[in-house]
Amino acid sequence: MSLMPKIKFLPSDVEVEVEEGTPILDAALDNDIHIDHNCGGNCACSTCHIIVIEGFDTLNEMTEDEQDMLDEAEGLTETSRLACQCETRANLIVKIPPKESDWENDPF
Ligand code: FES
Repeated sequence: MSLMPKIKFLPSDVEVEVEEGTPILDAALDNDIHIDHNCGGNCACSTCHIIVIEGFDTLNEMTEDEQDMLDEAEGLTETSRLACQCETRANLIVKIPPKESDWENDPF
């Protein structure tokens, strides 16, 4: 029996268990955690940008396409990824960065 990897999403601090190989975006959406995904997970936007706090080295390698898209993301960091392009293989902690547009029309 293998343990399923867990992903903790910040800032909501929600932890979910997923099948190995699940894209981080799917893991979030399946658990009602909001990550923008304007292109529907096709590596054609940068709205699903996340920052990997723990477990960055366990993820599949970035493709050139992902790198190109990521360059457009707001608040890019050394451990930024596109959530739809990363497969979960081990426990992760990821942060969903605030979007600049959220500051203007934050519903809370
Ligand atoms: S949803 Fe567009 S690149 Fe991930």
